[in-house]
Amino acid sequence: MRDGILVTGGAGFIGSNFILYWNETVASSVVNLDLLTYAANPANLASLRGNPAYEFVQGDIGNASLVAALLAQHRPRAIVHFAAESHVDRSIAAPEPFLQTNVQGSFHLLQQARIYWSSLSPADQSRFRFLHVSTDEVYGSLAPADPPSSERSPYAPNSPYAASKAAADHFARAFHHTWGLPVVTTHFSNNYGPFQFPEKLIPLTILNALEGKPLPVYGDGLHVRDWLYVRDTCAALGNLLNHGRPGETYNLGGNTPRTNLEVVTLVCALVDELSPSPAIGPRNKLITFVNDRPGHDRRYALDNTKISAELGWNPATRFEDGLRQTVRWYIESPAWIQSVRTAAYRDWIHQNYTRRPKA
Ligand code: NAD
Ligand code: DAU
Repeated sequence: MRDGILVTGGAGFIGSNFILYWNETVASSVVNLDLLTYAANPANLASLRGNPAYEFVQGDIGNASLVAALLAQHRPRAIVHFAAESHVDRSIAAPEPFLQTNVQGSFHLLQQARIYWSSLSPADQSRFRFLHVSTDEVYGSLAPADPPSSERSPYAPNSPYAASKAAADHFARAFHHTWGLPVVTTHFSNNYGPFQFPEKLIPLTILNALEGKPLPVYGDGLHVRDWLYVRDTCAALGNLLNHGRPGETYNLGGNTPRTNLEVVTLVCALVDELSPSPAIGPRNKLITFVNDRPGHDRRYALDNTKISAELGWNPATRFEDGLRQTVRWYIESPAWIQSVRTAAYRDWIHQNYTRRPKA
């Protein structure tokens, strides 16, 4: 597997999109290490079944002996680290798994990566990369007139999720600074697209709109997120693997700031157009303001200047186009939707939304 890569969390939303992208665009093998938590769906990668360039391993990034054995066996030229607990509301309901996976798990993965990397020849050491995936949330909430966060902005994580990602970032930085592990860190903004688990705003809204259920909007709905189509993220990550400079951090923003209310309203219009239902009527009538997320960050925005100048990457997909493709994908994927709506999923939806009566 000289040119192969190890991907963690590749059965989740962005990881599975990335593996499909990698398989289409790069002729090198992939080992996907994923614990298969509630957020995972190996069926996302069903098209790679039987492909000799793809191997799935169920396991925990915090399992040092498993990670060591995989690295020794496959000898990858890079690790792309997506695995995480990723949902802010769950980090508020139950923060401990975030500490376990995002902090301790990332630490153990970095340790094993360092041991493996130290054993490589100088030539292989210099081409190895640990691509550490992080989030805009570590920079905290911006006021309306603040400039977008750059790679030099101070950390100010506000949720247990953001704090756990920030802690992992600091370990990744320290592993580079102390031992020279060639870590490249990337922070990106809210992704959307196929295979996103329907606890997140966009897929939840699409599914509820299709079924005529209330569309929950937290607080006043004027919180701003910067939306990035997942395929554009994958292109940036591929680019960073080849050209990102070790020890450097790169922000990837969507250049598409939207309030949550704008996003939900646009989803309603697209669902009305692509799946009209006289029985349900116009979907925007389903918008329901509910109690806010505790500590809800008001605004995120990222400055793309560095990655744009160094790597020539810019988001390519207009939000309206990406969202249309996304709505269409969910409409055309009833089997996928059924497969993720487990009893555990229904319990979460019940737990999260019964705590949020109509505001
Ligand atoms: P996701 O929740 O859809 O998928 C996470 C995956 O990690 C799942 O397949 C899960 O089974 C796996 N996993 C969890 N714990 C694990 C463990 N201990 N060992 C091995 N695998 C484990 O997440 P996502 O939305 O695809 O996010 C991927 C990464 O990108 C995360 O690190 C997240 O913090 C970051 N990120 C996401 C977004 C976004 O908008 N979704 C934006 C910025 C950054
Ligand atoms: O900013 C990057 C982050 O984006 C990633 O690091 C996280 O992994 C990812 O989950 C996402 O976090 P958010 O909290 O922004 O995503 P979520 O889809 O949960 O919420 C988006 C916005 O919509 C947020 O302001 C909360 C709001 N919201 C969310 C849900 C689920 C609602 O108004 N109603 C809802 O039902």
